[in-house]
Amino acid sequence: MFGRVGFLTFCVSRSQTIVHCERKCHGFNDHALSKKSYWNSQYQPKKIRAIDWLAPADVIADHVISKVGILPTSDCQSFIHLLDLGCGTSDVPLCLAQSLGVPLHLVCLDYVPNAARWQTEKLAKSSPVNTLSTHACITGDVRALPFRDKTFHVVLEKGTLDSLLKDRGMARQSCDRMMAECIRVLRTEGVLLQITDEDPDLRIQLLEDTFSRIQVSARVSYTQIDTQGQECFMYAVTPKSSHKS
Ligand SMILES: C[S@@+](CC[C@H](N)C(=O)[O-])C[C@H]1O[C@@H](n2cnc3c(N)ncnc32)[C@H](O)[C@@H]1O
Repeated sequence: MFGRVGFLTFCVSRSQTIVHCERKCHGFNDHALSKKSYWNSQYQPKKIRAIDWLAPADVIADHVISKVGILPTSDCQSFIHLLDLGCGTSDVPLCLAQSLGVPLHLVCLDYVPNAARWQTEKLAKSSPVNTLSTHACITGDVRALPFRDKTFHVVLEKGTLDSLLKDRGMARQSCDRMMAECIRVLRTEGVLLQITDEDPDLRIQLLEDTFSRIQVSARVSYTQIDTQGQECFMYAVTPKSSHKS
């Protein structure tokens, strides 16, 4: 279902979560999306609610799970370590915990403490499919991740790089730092999944230019995601060292 409220175009997913599609809005100050003050205000206790940017959580979770299913680690009882960067108040973490059969260690990170708290409360009330699954929601910056090298099998970000790229002055620097951090915390066999409405002509070039600047060799592929008329893509980035010969 689609509709319009003020400057927001939204749709409601199967899970009844509101989905933001801000780029449809004329006159919206895009630059604000790169500011922590903007996100702080969005996640104030009086305002905070479940919102999924770009695409419904259940649809995204299905796509992520299909990628996780082909990871080398997913056919055994070992944990999948998955990091959701800039989790906001998205229901993707919840959908993943409630759909993934393999044991999952899920980490949600956002630089707004209220968003991390929101995810903590939501996940605490849920029952993961696999009773061994665990989660941790923390406050942190995607440009300086508080994790050791090679921690995660999957790093997921939906709309977070997009918001960094709205910065008129620091977009390139922030993008380089975020991408370098994503690659650093990925395991050798891991994958970075990026969900955005930016089409492949632009996004693949952006990633290639970024990887060239930060001296990373990676393969990029993408899938188009059907979101009831909104264009959305999932880019899968695998660092070159994890390529099979
Ligand atoms: C467009 S929203 C996407 C939220 C969520 N992933 C979703 O799909 O609904 C961008 C999110 O990234 C967070 N964010 C932006 N810049 C960040 C940064 N430098 N470090 C950590 N989180 C950041 C914002 O607080 C916000 O929750």
